[in-house]
Amino acid sequence: MRTPLIVANWKMNKSLKDAEQYGQELLPLLADHSGVEVVVCPPFTSLTVMSRIFAGSKIKLGAQNLFWEMKGAYTGEISPAMLVDAGCTYVILGHSERRQIMGENDTIINRKVRAALDAELIPILCVGETLQERENNRAREVVKEQLTRDLKNITFAPQGLVIAYEPVWAIGTGVNASSDDAQEMIGFIRSYLAKIYDRELANSVRILYGGSVNEENIAEFMGEVDVDGALVGGASLQPNSFAGIVRFK
Ligand code: 13P
Repeated sequence: MRTPLIVANWKMNKSLKDAEQYGQELLPLLADHSGVEVVVCPPFTSLTVMSRIFAGSKIKLGAQNLFWEMKGAYTGEISPAMLVDAGCTYVILGHSERRQIMGENDTIINRKVRAALDAELIPILCVGETLQERENNRAREVVKEQLTRDLKNITFAPQGLVIAYEPVWAIGTGVNASSDDAQEMIGFIRSYLAKIYDRELANSVRILYGGSVNEENIAEFMGEVDVDGALVGGASLQPNSFAGIVRFK
């Protein structure tokens, strides 16, 4: 059984005050809700305060990035141990914004995934093709290459890693993939995981869809057999719309 998982990725948004207010508003909206695991990923600066607000609730905390060393002379970086210390359970890795804007490659992402797992954080590994790659019929090949390189020599427990399929052309554009396209790629990802690991592990890994998810389209994605949840950007920034996505049924 794979528990549905809905993740808010705030990206680089919200002051401490805004974050606190969001937390206070979200808690009652989800207080009586069950059957869906909920994770909120604020910027680093709001992690500690959000951890305090969510303490005692079922809402979990995630970070949006980490560095692979545990401590030392790495100016400006945040270690896996620091994220655990701040109350994180999850960490988003390999997001297309980090790949494209910050120049992270698969070698870097592979190191980060390993470091997260070593610290007992659950990586949410993002993969996905650009519009050009899709138009050139290379979507599967690109996703397969990302998975192969990002997971090279990495082992993980059944619920210890999450994958998010986020086609780059659907991120922040309002143009979501169709639920058929999401199912097609996520089904492919699951069968590829069965090939590089085994079927049992592949069946236990939660695979999310991300890219212009909102309250209107979430139910359709969740109706697909292999789609286990969503990684939500823009529509996660308001407690009401994020709670509406969590309560998709
Ligand atoms: P949007 O939901 O704003 O398209 O962002 C998706 C995303 O990048 C989540 O990580």
